[in-house]
Amino acid sequence: MYTQSFNVPDSTDGSTLKVVPPAASAHEEALQTQFDARIDADGKIEPREWMPEAYRKTLVRQISQHAHSEIVGMLPEGNWISRAPSLKRKAILIAKVQDEGGHGLYLYSAAETLGTSRDQMLDALHTGKAKYSSIFNYPTLNWADVGVIGWLVDGAAIMNQIPLCRCSYGPYARAMIRVCKEESFHQRQGYEALLVMMQGTTEQKAMVQDAVNRWWWKCLAMFGPPDADSPNSVQGMRWGIKRISNDDLRQKFVDATVPQAKVLGVTLPDPDLKWNEERQAHDYGQIDWDEFWATVNGNGPCNKERLGTRVKAWNDGAWVRDAALAHAHKQQARQMKEAA
Ligand SMILES: [Fe+2]
Ligand SMILES: [Fe+2]
Repeated sequence: MYTQSFNVPDSTDGSTLKVVPPAASAHEEALQTQFDARIDADGKIEPREWMPEAYRKTLVRQISQHAHSEIVGMLPEGNWISRAPSLKRKAILIAKVQDEGGHGLYLYSAAETLGTSRDQMLDALHTGKAKYSSIFNYPTLNWADVGVIGWLVDGAAIMNQIPLCRCSYGPYARAMIRVCKEESFHQRQGYEALLVMMQGTTEQKAMVQDAVNRWWWKCLAMFGPPDADSPNSVQGMRWGIKRISNDDLRQKFVDATVPQAKVLGVTLPDPDLKWNEERQAHDYGQIDWDEFWATVNGNGPCNKERLGTRVKAWNDGAWVRDAALAHAHKQQARQMKEAA
């Protein structure tokens, strides 16, 4: 999955990103200088090392939003596992949705190395304080949506996430290397499923085009607000967390996707989309940012349903967590008895 939410403050910590507080003492100043030098040299920051508080908070927010997005992102496609059109498609979709669950788990673990607990992160998600990628607040109406999510949503996620493999925070960067390999499979399986449908009946082709029409603009919005409206991006770049700007990533995505759409035989729903010889890139039309912000702020078509499903899953799973803990305690007690 993916990630416009990287640029969106959670409801409660919008104030944490504004200013790097000045170092309080000569000792802290020396630590800050060391930190800056490591970042300038393109080195990695590891969990037990000193880091500015604002860097830590930004990473906790970004990595936990990313983890939540992976977990919530399982829902729109999971909805189709029981209705996949063949055993082969069902097996592929189960594997893909399971991968997303795994991505969430790596990312919660990476965020935990920054001193925040999984319970705190999940509580923020379940109480609606934490954001996740708004792309998952839209419904999956037909089977072609599953293919289009793989092709475009996972495709946009890859574009966003490849630069994160070089992120300055070690655990996040290392998690992203494996995540990106799996995202690449997600993108390919989606594109391949659509290629097959586009060789099918008129109705199947129409389903693919309809799904593309509904997802295209939402995928462009996944890269976040325009650079001019993303003041936090500059600090993210300075810290080596963000490597490429929102608009540059969006442009790369458009340029990569246009030829793929041509091979597939679908039309991208933008009358302003055309090659600009001078820029050696595609021009494209206006994104509806009002709709984007309305969805980010909880008023998309599926926000309540998605959150409700996650909270129910968490509550329904309480007995499994309790049983696992009770078993672990019993084992520990037995081991201690044997060792005594
Ligand atoms: Fe994915
Ligand atoms: Fe993922």
